[in-house]
Amino acid sequence: MRTIPRQSSLVFGLSLMPLAGLVAAFLLGGLGANPAEALIRQLGDWTLRFLLITLALRPAQHWLGWRLLRHRRMLGLFAFFYAVLHFAAYAVLDAGLDPGYILDDIAKRPYITVGLVGLALLFALAFTSASGLRRRLGVWWRRLHWAIYPAAALGVMHFFMLTRADYREPAVYAMLLSALLLLRIRPAPGSVQKKPPINGGKGHAEKRVEENRE
Ligand code: HEM
Repeated sequence: MRTIPRQSSLVFGLSLMPLAGLVAAFLLGGLGANPAEALIRQLGDWTLRFLLITLALRPAQHWLGWRLLRHRRMLGLFAFFYAVLHFAAYAVLDAGLDPGYILDDIAKRPYITVGLVGLALLFALAFTSASGLRRRLGVWWRRLHWAIYPAAALGVMHFFMLTRADYREPAVYAMLLSALLLLRIRPAPGSVQKKPPINGGKGHAEKRVEENRE
């Protein structure tokens, strides 16, 4: 009975490790010649990684047989958390908290606009992630939460747009995201639960609700 909270605490603790590492490296001077840029970039990397990890939970649950979907909400919220930190680091360290500078950047650098749209989508997902809203929104909640794919795609596009020479890293993210999207659209045989029959399908329906519950 106590394994779920313990697992959740482990996932929570592990999700904070990148931040702890980055803060320590920043304070101890371990982020190279341009620590502000390195911090902004690494927070951006972690945002994308958490988005992809969140999307990988479903296929991983199918292949490994572990009940991983229960951690989806927490990991999705961590993606949002790292995105907010990424933006905050940019706003403080790059823009010096100057709204004029940020507006100018939005106008001049399209990758900033693309990043902001991605952040706005993540905000909508985080805002509607509470169980009460999930119940109230019903089928609309599921539809809205598909927006995690466009949010991740905007993140990858943002990375491509700001890259000037070596496109290998954004290309790896793009391939991983495409594979995850493909798996979602055309799941591996046996990974989809059949729709419950009109009568007597209660067991399946309950199982599906249980599977999707974080
Ligand atoms: C879904 C939201 C976002 C994701 C997934 C994301 C992801 C990333 C990634 C992966 C990088 C490159 C990291 C590297 O070079 O290894 C990056 C860089 C950067 N991002 Fe974002 N980002 C997002 C939103 C934003 C927003 C809202 C802003 C600011 C308004 C922003 C500003 C920047 C800046 C300034 C850089 C560094 C550019 C440079 O050093 O030339 N990002 N981001």
